[in-house]
Amino acid sequence: MPNSDLTPRPARDSQSEMTELVLPNDTNPLHGLLGGRLMHWMDIAAAMAAHRHARHYVVTASVDHLDFVSSARVGNFIVLRSSVNRAFNTSMEVGVKVWAENYLLNKRTHVSSAYFTFVAVDKEGRPQLVPQVIPETPEEKHRFEGAARRREHRLAEREIRRNNRSSRP
Ligand SMILES: CC(C)(COP(=O)(O)OP(=O)(O)OC[C@H]1O[C@@H](n2cnc3c(N)ncnc32)[C@H](O)[C@@H]1OP(=O)(O)O)[C@@H](O)C(=O)NCCC(=O)NCCS
Repeated sequence: MPNSDLTPRPARDSQSEMTELVLPNDTNPLHGLLGGRLMHWMDIAAAMAAHRHARHYVVTASVDHLDFVSSARVGNFIVLRSSVNRAFNTSMEVGVKVWAENYLLNKRTHVSSAYFTFVAVDKEGRPQLVPQVIPETPEEKHRFEGAARRREHRLAEREIRRNNRSSRP
């Protein structure tokens, strides 16, 4: 059964890490990792953090802007780290950062980062309240503050998109 305990939880409790190996089936004809495959892994890494924080079923509500800042190649490890930056009512902002690791050179390169919004839901898909996040480190506090600004922007953009949709013939 999902947990209904709304006691605030430290950001560190949601921290998650997953590692994937880039295989030929994950790549384009230039042997670079497919963007879609990376987005899939990022969604899963983000969902892990959201599940750990909410201790509930969650769904992806939105993903903010996503840049692929460098490419990953066949044979690289893809390291994905995620944590819940801030919880609101039923939604949470999750940050995900991704590196490509070349284990032959013992070198990691930043590949992508993104903010995901997850919503905790019950079995019928109805939004459910989530516990607040307690940021502890200076970095967590910085992400916590930024999350409030980003949410305002995100919801304002959603409103614009809604209005555009409803004014279309
Ligand atoms: C996400 C979803 C549950 C929101 O339901 P809704 O009826 O719009 O609910 P509400 O308007 O009450 O919003 C619930 C929360 O989601 C947030 N939210 C909804 N859409 C959002 C969006 N596009 N971006 C950011 N936050 C969003 C709201 O701000 C609200 O947050 P809060 O409770 O913390 O204040 C619903 O749209 C849904 O089920 N979408 C499909 C999800 C899905 O299938 N994902 C892919 C597979 S996991």
